[in-house]
Amino acid sequence: MNRKLRCRVFLVIASVVLLSVGVHAQQEAPAKTFRSLPIRSRLSDPDAEHKIESLLKQMTLDEKVGQLVQYSAGTRTGPGTGRSDYEEMIEKGQVGSLFNLADAHAANRYQHIAIEKSRLHIPLLNGLDVIHGYRTEFPVPLGLASTWDPEVVEKAARIAGREAAADGVRWVFSPMVDIARDPRWGRIIEGAGEDPYLGSAIARAYVRGYQGKSLRAPDSVVACPKHYVGYGAAEGGRDYNTTEISEHTLREVYLPPFYAALDEGAGTIMSAFNALNGVPASANPFTLKEVLRREWKFDGLVVSDWTSLGELVPHGIANDGRGAAWRAFTGGVEMDMESNVYHEYLAELVKSGRVSETDIDEAVRRVLRVKFAVGLFEHPYTDEKLANHGPLPKESLDVARAAAERSFVLLKNDSVGSQRVLPLSGDLKTYALVGPLADDAGEMLGSWAGRSEAKDVVTLRRALVERVGTDRVKYAKGGEITKATDEQIAEAVTAARGADVVILALGEDAPEMTAEAASRAHLDLPGRQEALLEEVAATGKPMVLVLFSGRPLTLPWAFQHVPAVLEAWFPGVQGGAALVRTLFGESVPSGKLVVTWPRWIGQIPLYYNAMSTGRPAGNAVLSKPPSEGTEKFVSRYVDETNAPQFPFGYGLSYAEFRYSNPEVNAKTLSAKALSATLRNRQEDSKEVLSVSANVTNSGKVAAEEVVQVYVRLRGTSAVEPVRALKGFQRVALAPGETKRITFPLTAESFSIWDSNNEHNVEPSLVNLWVSPDSARGESVQLEITQ
Ligand code: NOJ
Repeated sequence: MNRKLRCRVFLVIASVVLLSVGVHAQQEAPAKTFRSLPIRSRLSDPDAEHKIESLLKQMTLDEKVGQLVQYSAGTRTGPGTGRSDYEEMIEKGQVGSLFNLADAHAANRYQHIAIEKSRLHIPLLNGLDVIHGYRTEFPVPLGLASTWDPEVVEKAARIAGREAAADGVRWVFSPMVDIARDPRWGRIIEGAGEDPYLGSAIARAYVRGYQGKSLRAPDSVVACPKHYVGYGAAEGGRDYNTTEISEHTLREVYLPPFYAALDEGAGTIMSAFNALNGVPASANPFTLKEVLRREWKFDGLVVSDWTSLGELVPHGIANDGRGAAWRAFTGGVEMDMESNVYHEYLAELVKSGRVSETDIDEAVRRVLRVKFAVGLFEHPYTDEKLANHGPLPKESLDVARAAAERSFVLLKNDSVGSQRVLPLSGDLKTYALVGPLADDAGEMLGSWAGRSEAKDVVTLRRALVERVGTDRVKYAKGGEITKATDEQIAEAVTAARGADVVILALGEDAPEMTAEAASRAHLDLPGRQEALLEEVAATGKPMVLVLFSGRPLTLPWAFQHVPAVLEAWFPGVQGGAALVRTLFGESVPSGKLVVTWPRWIGQIPLYYNAMSTGRPAGNAVLSKPPSEGTEKFVSRYVDETNAPQFPFGYGLSYAEFRYSNPEVNAKTLSAKALSATLRNRQEDSKEVLSVSANVTNSGKVAAEEVVQVYVRLRGTSAVEPVRALKGFQRVALAPGETKRITFPLTAESFSIWDSNNEHNVEPSLVNLWVSPDSARGESVQLEITQ
């Protein structure tokens, strides 16, 4: 074997070994959230490092700065810089990355300029917001998370990444891993909800899907968890607003999903818009340098959010663009998305001695590392023949439908007469289908709809007609989402009167009311939909309300009076097909809420993993007002219960599940031993305790149940949540079947961010629940001793 060949063989063997290690790590990964250990990078490659150093030696200061500059060259997703001279800039080596180009031909055109005309031929990294699909649109991220099924999320991300890569996109600004505890915030739709454990498992699944087995493969895309960090805690739920988060909460709640995404190998991260405890997240040395670089040892790239560097001026920590560039760069952001301040001022800041060229070199290294990792130096162009402009393949549609079916959360399903409303019988004579969301293909795609096309969408109306025939469907739109005339409502009432059952499709307007810059102060049904609902309900017909929304809606009347309510989120291209299968019982709902569903806006923020207070109030006490003899001096409202409408983890099924015989396999654990385990890479995934319970399907249909395990710690140096999720499993059960469900727990399940600002396990009393949601279940106890 000659040397070159030997070297290749070695590389192939090494990558197979690395990949198998990677695969092993992936299987065990979901249990990991935050740790004392550095993340596991997938970028490091000695050969690439060598090439990076050699390139750096040849680069001028302007060319180095160029690598740190990014512009939107397509449809704008924010306020712009006013620049458009990208071709000339690329030729001069002044641009490192473009984004918003969802078009293979355009991507290749710009890449040709970079490769053929720039002095050092460094390829561009082409980015895009691929959020819940590209050509094939899957349910919105909040819906995908409600599946509690990392596998389906990974599959969806793989398809999205592959489709985007075919169009020349090699970098996706996803997953959004911001914890959100406030449904007023429009971007709650883009994340995985309020829980750091579930959020971490879902974050890992997206990263695995996008980045595949090898980042270098032409159909892989590098992930970019965002928005680092705390963006979801915007005060009042108002987008871009300031955030105040204690270090304890930051470490235990907001940071874990970022850690998880990076530990899974995400090569980039996006800094957020918000000020965090007084320091904007896009110039925050604590989060960007201390935590990300020094503790986690992240070796990838930090990109700013759109103009978030220029926004340091209105934030008030810089007086002008120069000051903003200085703050951001020295604060730890390597790439300037769209602000133009690095392009304008960074070289000058180096020349004046305010920024060191060594630091610039380190930033450039990080950008080039990502470019090498995705193989852009060898394969800078996409094969334009790969882009799919035709029909969506069956494999993608199957995943889209499965994801949608699992994302639906059955909130209520009462009986009318002797029968539960759902599933519907297929033998009824007529079905009334009412509501502005029953046949709106565009809405089904949700916000951040990528390159999806309305023509690919199966709406609820289309699927229902396909299922039972046009003659048996009485359709009435009942108005628009935000307005309706009396006539439209009357027409809907007439349709309902003439039918055996009414399916109402109501909800929000995805592009207008969800995602970025779409916070709501009212969480009711927009327009006249509440009137439509109440008037249709007055017909007395059995009815089911299908809600399409990007957040929980406060609908007390509906939850009291409508017998069946199914939350469908914005379910993607196969939404209607998945809904019809669910309504008729071919698919049994198994989604569970990933956000607490409040009764009233006045309860917000309301989340299950809250801290106890010194004056806790059980929800039962609060079903009566204080005037009726209940305790006054406890943490409560005088005019409303503390209890949510539906708790985190909640979701009904057409089956019924019974939980029994919870048990732990040890009664004591040692804090010291567990703390040591946390700091040992070989040991930290080891099972230290197992907790199990029987779950029985006592219903009449086969179904899947998401079994959850929660922990509470008492006696610790810092207050810990009244319950915290530490594991979940999706379990299939035939009617009458019982399975013993066992959860292996690691030291991390009992670890906290302690009062000394350290990650530790402390002596404590532990309650553990194996339960169907965060509010139910019988707990078992154990003790963690010294
Ligand atoms: C602003 C958004 O906050 C972010 O999520 C997105 O990735 C960028 N714009 C780019 O479009």
